[in-house]
Amino acid sequence: MTQDELKKMVGWAVLEYIMPNTVVGVGTGSTVSHFINGLATRKHLITGVVSSSSSSTYKLNELSIPILDSNYVNNIDIYIDGVDELNPSLMMIKGGGGALTQEKIIAAMAKQFIVIADKSKLVNTLGGFPLPIEVIPMARTYVSHQLIKLGGIPKYRKNVITDNGNIIIDVQNLKILDPINLENKINTIPGVVTVGLFANRPADIALLATQYGVQKLIAIN
Ligand code: A5P
Repeated sequence: MTQDELKKMVGWAVLEYIMPNTVVGVGTGSTVSHFINGLATRKHLITGVVSSSSSSTYKLNELSIPILDSNYVNNIDIYIDGVDELNPSLMMIKGGGGALTQEKIIAAMAKQFIVIADKSKLVNTLGGFPLPIEVIPMARTYVSHQLIKLGGIPKYRKNVITDNGNIIIDVQNLKILDPINLENKINTIPGVVTVGLFANRPADIALLATQYGVQKLIAIN
């Protein structure tokens, strides 16, 4: 199977977790794109979705899946999203698609958070994938200097403006041995909107596509 076929397999496999009359958080990315195709076959059963990005909103609209405003839902029953890197505790690096802020808000609102990916995303130690950080534009240089002090190599993601009007800095060279501590530290840097480290709120379940089928991991605490 190709990587895209693996993504499709897991994007459709997660549909068994979608219950009638629920609000579904929808992430961003190529794996989620397959999930949205699958969700379209159940759109009359669910209450609606909360979208994490303009690109997902575009696709959801194309398929006439009802979209809800996050400010007018009491809670999100389940959140389905992809991931850039995942460790065995189901802590993650996210934000390769630049939608990390909305993704983190939806993760916080969601009762259950399921990540879907092909198994190549699973690693022992996070940091191989550059850590995305959404930053207020005028703080770019200041935040970059603080990230260097933390041992990272910051790279400005050129020609990208987030859905919130901010920029993205991708940080290389981080071996993230204590993800909660690093998430908390980066969160305190003035100018940082969101760090794409999801450690304080890891996923509850990971569904990982392999050549032999879909493997299920549950967070070990
Ligand atoms: C979006 O900002 C990211 O968090 C995505 O979830 C991530 O990039 C996964 O994308 P793919 O499913 O395309 O690998």
